[in-house]
Amino acid sequence: MKLTVATLVCSVSVVLITSCSGTGSGPSAEHGMKLFNNPGLAASLNASSCASCHPGGQGLEQAPNNPKLDDVINRCITGPLGGKALDQGSSDFRSLKMYIESFADQ
Ligand code: HEC
Repeated sequence: MKLTVATLVCSVSVVLITSCSGTGSGPSAEHGMKLFNNPGLAASLNASSCASCHPGGQGLEQAPNNPKLDDVINRCITGPLGGKALDQGSSDFRSLKMYIESFADQ
């Protein structure tokens, strides 16, 4: 019986450790790029994605310096995309922002 409990505790910790340290979780610019090109972003029902108007981030080179960046992202989501504003603390929002920040021309 003791052995079974020990085995169970061990397997549970292994699962927890792998899911916490595993790649793919948490925000990333790579995930942001997928969202940027996804017409279904933020429950948008039309065919536009961010990339329709900003292909490959064109024209957004100054965006990382925009003090209102968070607001502008959500304005483009609720406006042209017809989607629902994203929670600014969410992983999707942070990923999208990380991707946009990668456009900065240094
Ligand atoms: C229908 C076209 C259209 C779509 C689709 C669109 N945008 Fe925009 N976006 C604009 C226009 C127009 C502006 C304002 C002009 C400008 O500064 O480039 C703008 C401005 C911005 C800016 C500010 C640029 C700056 O220099 O500060 C950001 C950031 C941005 N959009 C991100 C996005 C994101 C993210 C999406 C997808 C959720 C998106 N846009 C979808 C048309 C669009």
